[in-house]
Parts: sequence; C-alpha cells; structure tokens
Amino acid sequence: MTDIRCIGICTGGGDAPGLNAVIRAAVKCAILKYKWKVIGIPDGFDGLIWPEKSYELKLNDVSGILPRGGTILGTTNRGNPFKYCTIENGQEVIRDISQEVIGNSRKLGIDAVISIGGEGSQTIALELFQSGMKIVGVPKTIDNDLSATEITFGFDTALATATDAVDKIHTTAESHHRIMVVEVMGRDAGWIALEAGIAGGAHVILIPEIPFTIEGVCAFVKERESYGKRFTIMVVAEGVKLPLAFKEKRRGGAVGNLIGNAVAIAANKEVRVSVLGHIQRGGSPTPFDRILATRFGVAAVDLIAEGGFGKMVCLRNERIEAVDIAQAIGKLKTVDPAGQLVQMAKAIGISFGDSVLRA
Ligand code: F6P
Repeated sequence: MTDIRCIGICTGGGDAPGLNAVIRAAVKCAILKYKWKVIGIPDGFDGLIWPEKSYELKLNDVSGILPRGGTILGTTNRGNPFKYCTIENGQEVIRDISQEVIGNSRKLGIDAVISIGGEGSQTIALELFQSGMKIVGVPKTIDNDLSATEITFGFDTALATATDAVDKIHTTAESHHRIMVVEVMGRDAGWIALEAGIAGGAHVILIPEIPFTIEGVCAFVKERESYGKRFTIMVVAEGVKLPLAFKEKRRGGAVGNLIGNAVAIAANKEVRVSVLGHIQRGGSPTPFDRILATRFGVAAVDLIAEGGFGKMVCLRNERIEAVDIAQAIGKLKTVDPAGQLVQMAKAIGISFGDSVLRA
C-alpha cells in the first residue's frame, strides 16, 4: 500500500463515449473504498498549467453522469507539457513546462494522477512518470487501435452509431439505385469500417490495412449489376490509403468524397457520400462501454493503491490487467488482412476493392 491521500483525474485526446463512466467509477471507488480526496483536472494536462482551474470532485459531482457522452472534465488533443506551444512577441515558441506541471500537481496536494487517454495522452503520461509524477493510465479511443488492450471503451458505441447509419443508407441506395459511400472514423486502423460494414450489410469496405483501386471497386459494382443488384453500399475508413492516382492530401472528411467522385466517374453511376465524423464520438455509451469504463475506472484506482505507477489498465482475456505504459504505446492494433474477420467478410462476397476480379 502506498501513502496516498489525494488523486487527480484528467481526460486527454478526443472524447469518447464512456469517459464520464470512468470518471464516475474512479471518484466513487477512491472516496468510498479508500477515503481519498479526488481533484478533477480540466482539459487534459492543461489543467495543471493553470492549477487554479482544478477542483475537488465529490460524489455529488459524478451523480447522473454515467449515461452522458463527452467528459465533464473537458479535454484537448493539444497541450503537450513537454512541447508546449506559446506565442511570444508574435513568434511561436515551444517550451518544456513539464516540471511546472509536476510542481503544480504537488501544490494541489495531488499524490497520484489517473490519465485517461489514447496513444498521445499515454505517451505524455509515460514521460511525466519518467520525470517523477506518480501516474497510471486508462486507455481510450473509439478507433480501438491500442495494442495493449483487447478493446477500448467508446468503440462499441461508435460501432453502433456507424452500423445504424449504414442500415439507414440502405433505403436511399436501394430506392435510387445508387452507390452510397459512408465515411467513418479510423485514422490508422479500419476497425469501425470493418465491423460497421459487416454488421450493416455493406458490399464494399475500404480500410487503411488493405490497398484498394478504383478499378477494383468498379469491377465489383459491375459484377453486382450483372446479377441484378443496382445499388452498392461502401463503408470507407477515413484513414484509407488513397491510390497514387489521387494527388490530393489525405484528410478525414475528404476521403469519402474523393473516392465517391472517382467511382462516380469511372463507373458512370450516381454516387452520394455521407461523412459521419464526430457523430461517432457522441451520444450515450452502450451498456458494454459503460461496464468496461467502470471496470477501468475502479482498476485504475486499485492500481494507484498498489503502487503500480507507470502502468495502464487494460482488458486481456476478458480480465482487467495492468501493463507498463512503455509497452502499451508505439504499436497500434490494426486489422489483419489475413485475419478471420476479413476472411469471413470475403467469404460472404464483401469486396475490399483489392482485386479487379473476384474468385
Ligand atoms: O482517435 C480518435 C479519432 O476520433 C479519430 O478516429 C479521428 O481521426 C480523430 O480522432 C479526429 O480528431 P479531432 O476531433 O481532432 O478532429
């Protein structure tokens, strides 16, 4: 047992459904099980740059937040204290203010910090740990691309949202005999696209892990038409690698339109594009995400009590475990093109745009 009396909690990076459930669980467990005080650090580590913005979280403050999306603490995907960007005399200056941040957490009486965040936030958490801060991590991303954990909370909710969108797109696709493109999130990994595509009954799924060609997609559309299917639904991950012919820079929100336009021209078909964007990060977490987030919140507090600093909670074989943050970052969990899910999808005729003619 370590000598802990007060812990801080912060959320960093993009928001994900379930963040509030983690905060709620951690606050409840810290207060009820360990009798610790809890400080809410607003807007990621920015809250420790301006410590006066931090405030005590009591049981009442987390009452009713379980089903709420977003984070009551606020978040940011900027504000790295090791590379803090300020404007001085009209010039951009990058400074290392990590010691200030660590000093401010001590001034607030914080003995240890729970950092809830994805790859970027956990990298900062590791550096703060190496610089002397007692810190534990909770993994978060709707993309589900952290290799250290089987699943991150937020993914299940995002998947449900994306699947619902693909379901709804069927109506117009079928009625208008169109090709409908649905662009979903997934900067480096195609998990949302793959699973929403399978669950929503899409015909083409384009993901960063499988190179595709416009010819491959068009040949598939033509083949569908040859047996009377006059519509095609494509789910495209925002991080998909565009074929070389595309000169434009890859950017989330643009990829679906670029691919949609190219397919419209090459297949001479009517194409419409829907970009789901941040809708996938919003809304109330699913029961699965609420439970996983609650498990992570409690586990993070227990990890502090055990002195497991520099570690991150994770799910392995359906059990909550802890892994060194150093081992948890740097390697993303991406879709295996030869894996069971992709092979199963191919077996039911889903195209990944990777071959001109299907077997
Ligand atoms: O990492 C989660 C994620 O939702 C990605 O899928 C997406 O590319 C990114 O965040 C978007 O971030 P922002 O909110 O800064 O646009």
